[in-house]
Amino acid sequence: MNIFVTGATGYIGGTVSSRLLDAGHKIHGLARNQERAERLEERGIIPVLGSLEDFDVLHDAAQAADAVINAANADNPFAARVLVDALRGSGKTLLHTSGTSTVADNANGAYSDAIYHEDSILDPLPEKTGRIAIDRMVCGAAHDGVRAVVLSPCLIYGKGLGVRPDSIQVPMFIEIAKTSGVPRHLGAGENLWSHVHIEDCADAYMAAFEHATAGSYFYIEAGEASMGDLSLAVGRLLGMEPRTESLTLSDAVRAWGPPMAHGMGSNVRVRADKARAILGWESKGPGLLDDIAQGSYRDAV
Ligand SMILES: NC(=O)c1ccc[n+]([C@@H]2O[C@H](COP(=O)([O-])OP(=O)(O)OC[C@H]3O[C@@H](n4cnc5c(N)ncnc54)[C@H](OP(=O)(O)O)[C@@H]3O)[C@@H](O)[C@H]2O)c1
Repeated sequence: MNIFVTGATGYIGGTVSSRLLDAGHKIHGLARNQERAERLEERGIIPVLGSLEDFDVLHDAAQAADAVINAANADNPFAARVLVDALRGSGKTLLHTSGTSTVADNANGAYSDAIYHEDSILDPLPEKTGRIAIDRMVCGAAHDGVRAVVLSPCLIYGKGLGVRPDSIQVPMFIEIAKTSGVPRHLGAGENLWSHVHIEDCADAYMAAFEHATAGSYFYIEAGEASMGDLSLAVGRLLGMEPRTESLTLSDAVRAWGPPMAHGMGSNVRVRADKARAILGWESKGPGLLDDIAQGSYRDAV
């Protein structure tokens, strides 16, 4: 199949593209400049020059493809709408990437026992309502002849397989531990995040590509850990004493910016029972804490 992938140079999109190439598909990847285009070509991906803001590029590439994977920006309503509109009535597959911070709370490092499944009632923070509206619009395209599916991964870790192999959150914790001389987390560090290894995440996209029905929504998760335990694993990686310190919200905002600082102090606990049951997806690991302490992040020492 010819598959158009947005975010093909990114962490998720690059790893999913690599899996799709291995499965014999032809990948057309969005690249927003010539340098990114060349990096895609080196990996056997046909570059489509343009950005999420280019209506004609997105529309034409989606219509020309047999299927589309949107893995560039979970919060961009324009791109999602262009892709949905381009595929309307075609029966083609659209796998759209969301993210589980839609269930985030305002805990600032405190524990919460709230666990979410796909049919749980959400009480979203104001900054997450846009993402939820995009997800609903994409799922709703199932009524208009699009095999639209939303995948919602949680915190992803491990080495990716594409142009950008590095995960987002774990390196931030490594960096702050290195600059402070001690691993640090928001508040008490008792807040929990679900997580999934990047290759397991890509396998879930492959399983959804095969088995998901139009209009379905899946969390992708393989375990959970507190930010305190994540920080201790960072300390083990860096050969530090087994202790952590808390970080004020103001320091976290300075280091990571407001959305990420609030996010890393929140609880994001989801379960992927639906993906296991309906897609037949299974995670293989390695687990987050082992992968931090003695796996993918050794180069960061
Ligand atoms: N990583 C996670 O743990 C995680 C978990 C759940 C959900 N998500 C969500 O999934 C999405 C992708 O995440 P990621 O980790 O793969 O991020 P990433 O590594 O930063 O990749 C983003 C990709 O989108 C491309 N892109 C961004 N803005 C663009 C624009 N305006 N026009 C064209 N291309 C654009 C980037 O191109 P360049 O190479 O040119 O920058 C890159 O290919 C994000 O919305 C993120 O919030 C991420």
